[in-house]
Amino acid sequence: EKSGYDHFMVKEIFEQPQTIYDSLRGRLDAKKGTLTMGGIREYASLLKEARRIIIVACGTSWHAGLIAEYIIEELCRIPVEVEYASEFRYRNPVVGKGDVIIAVSQSGETADTLVAMESAKEKGAIILGVCNVVGSSIARLSHAGAYTHAGPEIGVASTKAFTAQLAVLCLIALKVAEEKGSISQQRFQYLLDELDSISEKVATTLKLDAQIRQVADKYKDARDFLFLGRGYNFPVALEGALKLKEISYIHAEGYPAAEMKHGPIALVDENLPVVFVATRDANYEKIVSNIQEIKARKGKVIAVVTEGDTSIRSMADDVIEVPACDELVAPMLSVIPLQLLAYYIGVLKGLDVDKPRNLAKSVTVE
Ligand code: M6R
Repeated sequence: EKSGYDHFMVKEIFEQPQTIYDSLRGRLDAKKGTLTMGGIREYASLLKEARRIIIVACGTSWHAGLIAEYIIEELCRIPVEVEYASEFRYRNPVVGKGDVIIAVSQSGETADTLVAMESAKEKGAIILGVCNVVGSSIARLSHAGAYTHAGPEIGVASTKAFTAQLAVLCLIALKVAEEKGSISQQRFQYLLDELDSISEKVATTLKLDAQIRQVADKYKDARDFLFLGRGYNFPVALEGALKLKEISYIHAEGYPAAEMKHGPIALVDENLPVVFVATRDANYEKIVSNIQEIKARKGKVIAVVTEGDTSIRSMADDVIEVPACDELVAPMLSVIPLQLLAYYIGVLKGLDVDKPRNLAKSVTVE
């Protein structure tokens, strides 16, 4: 049940400190500096020798896959591709022995993802599943895998399953990197510590609830929204746009911030809210100049930044501060304000946020 919350969506958003913790628990031991991934143990050596990793998924799970691509390539130095399951299945992809498929799915029943896995399996690829539902079709079809421990997700908009997927995909990347020796002991330990402290930082971020509601109220009547980010935060921008579309029916698009100048910047005027996911990372200086480009065209800037950031504060219309963390784990934090923003805009518009029109919780048709 909703345990005192108005909707499942907000209940599930607020469960994230716990569900991330549950997805790490029993696997990550930061004090001892160890990582145990029971579900993939047998396949760990195959994984580290993989010629290529292909992540297949849909929707929000596909966004988690995009983040995992950056993380796995960075830590494991294995080429990764991320495919929309529906496209992958029907375009006669080059896939076979030596390839590892990671299917990411909350429900484990998404038909597009299921058929993509089936065809790759027939061609000799190893299939790993990252699912939230124990015993689901995708989990059963996988050779091995790791469950996310987010608990049942009822709201049609995926929230806690997404951050749990990020946690588990991060663990898989770290495990493979450790086995492969592509990460230094020091960095390995540092990232274990960063992961270990993420739940607490998510809890801190959730305290911004009232502030985000105000931001939602200010922009709820906008016709369109843009979401921009770079690096690990680029897929977070895509996810923010998807959440807003689903829940508020406002047209929203996500882009890598640098792509603005290749077209979408033509849309910017004083009526367009642009959400920047601009936490401190390797791309920080670059994204600051992207914010200036939007301000120069009178767009309204809402920026998700790292605590204590003063340069963006001086430019943006609204600033939402999240705790500092390493860029690899930042998406688990930076997505939280975007989930709340979509939720509150939907609520303020009087919409059915748990069951948006035209959508089903799990899409079991191709
Ligand atoms: O159950 P899955 O993770 O396989 O579902 C994939 C998508 O259908 C799902 O993420 C969808 O995009 C959500 N409604 C997003 O909020």
